[in-house]
Amino acid sequence: MIRSLRGRLFIGLTAIIILTGAIGVMFVYQWAFGEAMELQDSVLIQLASVAQSGSFSGGQPLQGVEQDTDVWLIELGKTPRGPADDRQLFGLKDGLQIATRKGQPIRVLLQTRSDGSRFAVAQPTAVRDETARDMAFRTLLPIAALIPCLMLVTALVIAHSLRPMVRLAGDLDARRADDLTPLPLLGTPSELHPFINSINGLLARIRSLMDQQRRFVADAAHELRTPITALSLQAENLDSVDIPEAARDRLAALRQGMQRTKHLLEQLLALARQEAPLAEAGEMPLLALDGATKEVVADLLPHAFDRGIDLGFQLVEPVAVRAEPVMLTTMVRNLLDNALRVTPRSGNIDVGVYREGEMAVLQIEDTGPGIASSDLERIFEPFFRGSCPQGEGSGLGLSIVNRVVERLGGTIGLENIGGTDRSGLRVTVRLPLAVDPSKEVSRGM
Ligand SMILES: Nc1ncnc2c1ncn2[C@@H]1O[C@H](COP(=O)(O)OP(=O)(O)OP(=O)(O)O)[C@@H](O)[C@H]1O
Ligand SMILES: [Mg+2]
Repeated sequence: MIRSLRGRLFIGLTAIIILTGAIGVMFVYQWAFGEAMELQDSVLIQLASVAQSGSFSGGQPLQGVEQDTDVWLIELGKTPRGPADDRQLFGLKDGLQIATRKGQPIRVLLQTRSDGSRFAVAQPTAVRDETARDMAFRTLLPIAALIPCLMLVTALVIAHSLRPMVRLAGDLDARRADDLTPLPLLGTPSELHPFINSINGLLARIRSLMDQQRRFVADAAHELRTPITALSLQAENLDSVDIPEAARDRLAALRQGMQRTKHLLEQLLALARQEAPLAEAGEMPLLALDGATKEVVADLLPHAFDRGIDLGFQLVEPVAVRAEPVMLTTMVRNLLDNALRVTPRSGNIDVGVYREGEMAVLQIEDTGPGIASSDLERIFEPFFRGSCPQGEGSGLGLSIVNRVVERLGGTIGLENIGGTDRSGLRVTVRLPLAVDPSKEVSRGM
């Protein structure tokens, strides 16, 4: 059983072509063979009419007739005479018939002249058959040549007709996993419309399901934020109350746990926000990536200073991208947050913002342990924290960053910096550079 539609169509149509061709060839061969025989008979008749006037001498191949046709004029005289074969011929009636001469069958036309003398125009049937076969075969050649041509045309027509289907499949394959926009009906064959409508229906259902799920996560995180904040406040209030030292330790652990939960909720909300449908890239405001990065770095500087980490810029160029302000700050903050978490005391974090061709580049290099190459593949998965997680975290930061970069049409690459004198991770984010016609770049975040 052939599964491919193309294969089935091709085999079916080829079988029809070959069958019709074979039947046609058979009929045409028989018809052409008969016609060739008749043609040869008419040659005999024409030659006989010439011989009526006695202009040929008998007993030899006829002049003016092609040598390989082997046509003979046999003068039989007025009475039977000569060799037995001639006498036997004389005994036959006037007209076309089959006879035997020198042991081989011949087609012969006997005629009697007005003076009573008889003659025969003869041709061996073997020669006639061969000529007829030859002529019939030559008639077949164009038909036989047509069959492979038809097969080729069939294959081309099938490939051309199925191209919209192949293109549709290619379009679907090339889509990003989260691209749920409906497939266009325009320009596709009407046979595919029910199929495309079904796929579009399915896409719409998936979209609403994903929306529901995203809203649920966002709502749940939002709803949980209020009671957690209230609990944190209560715990803070306990600080000023006179409580035993052992209870104070437990209280610190409790506050830390609540801090972690708050962070998890913040990250969940940020991820849910980035999963929400986005306005067209062109409609997003023009923002300075260098400005956004500087603000986050300035925010984190005290923290870096406390930890003895040298956080600073290596290179800053003014570059503009189209994005929502919160996207850029979330991205830079999460990346720097990771770098700060893994970089040991007196380590370095170098930040670079620059232009590279049509791309705006943000590069962050730290002097931490880097990421195990076996973890790199899964590092963007939500809640994945690698095989040896550093400090505390929810495992959502890089998923959020990856989502932001994806939405902005950029790329992100993580590579370990290997060297004798240093180790660490280099994160490179490339975003499409925005062209600002007025050259006025908003720096407000
Ligand atoms: N600069 C880095 N150097 C070494 N490891 C890193 C670096 N950045 C991230 N990682 C590893 O990748 C893991 C996932 O990072 P991600 O930012 O997604 O989550 P997280 O930092 O653990 O939690 P969150 O960011 O939600 O607080 C981290 O736990 C850490 O193991
Ligand atoms: Mg992180």
